[in-house]
Amino acid sequence: MNKKINLIKHLSPEALYEQLKQFTAGMAVTKGAFELIVEKCLLEDIEWNHMDQLHRPAIHNTYEKGIRIAMGQDFAISLTQWKNWPFLITVTDVYVAKGLFYQSLTIAGIIFIHSIISLEQMGDNVKLKDEWFIASHKFFKLLHKPLNKKLYSLNARLQQEDEQVRQGRFELRKQGYTFKTDCPDYYNSNQLGANTIYPSLEAGASFSLEGITEVPTLVEAGNLKFIVSKNNNSGYLVWPSTCPHEGGPLINGKFCEAKVTCPWHGLHFKAVELSANHSTASKHGFAYELIGNTVYIKQSSSIEEKIIVTKSHDFITA
Ligand code: FES
Ligand SMILES: [Fe+2]
Repeated sequence: MNKKINLIKHLSPEALYEQLKQFTAGMAVTKGAFELIVEKCLLEDIEWNHMDQLHRPAIHNTYEKGIRIAMGQDFAISLTQWKNWPFLITVTDVYVAKGLFYQSLTIAGIIFIHSIISLEQMGDNVKLKDEWFIASHKFFKLLHKPLNKKLYSLNARLQQEDEQVRQGRFELRKQGYTFKTDCPDYYNSNQLGANTIYPSLEAGASFSLEGITEVPTLVEAGNLKFIVSKNNNSGYLVWPSTCPHEGGPLINGKFCEAKVTCPWHGLHFKAVELSANHSTASKHGFAYELIGNTVYIKQSSSIEEKIIVTKSHDFITA
């Protein structure tokens, strides 16, 4: 999974640190760092997760406000706001090289923060290091300490909240799942599409409707899992258990009639509805047939079904 990166000229962290100190008379520069071993994680998944802006309101319950001004494969420029603080913050993200990201922003024009995020695959784990420089005129140096603390705790919280995403994909890969974003960049990581590539479903895969109630339940059909519930029209609703977008666990989503909202990006997915009068249906890459009390499933040839987006995703941020 080699990523071709456009050539980027950049200052090394050491050179930037030296230049910041000399930038104008009276500069103050503070260093900070956060390190973590992310267990059961693939470098591609943590890179994708880092560049994917769309999970942030759903997973982190923050960064609701933002404008994605521009993005290319190796960069993103955004305007955001921290909570309701009356500061506008522009954020520049750069994918410098495989396993290396820069992020630069200024707060109210008085403080500059530059982060260097480096990632290294170590067996089944990824070593993550986020180092940052906080730079300002020494007049504002008293703000460095609380900011440093804030950046550390923010990092710790975000990494912990993202665990479910990285480890979820790690488990899926063990089952043979791959993703169209396996060579992630800022562009493809922020496209809403059916990016999950399911493993081949075993021939004759099926599950029984015995004991199924209105409560959405995971069932096994061959080598894959599905979600099924009874609907109030004496029929059944069925979804794949793995989100067609990027692999989120739909069983942990919010169910409302024939619709489930995925916990990872908040996209909505409609179920297929099967009943005695409507015994065949296909959706999200699977074709279903109800015979008696059993649902038989095949992979459908038309994988490219459009994801139903009923929510604005015109947001992003740092
Ligand atoms: S993984 Fe993105 S909405 Fe489900
Ligand atoms: Fe995240």
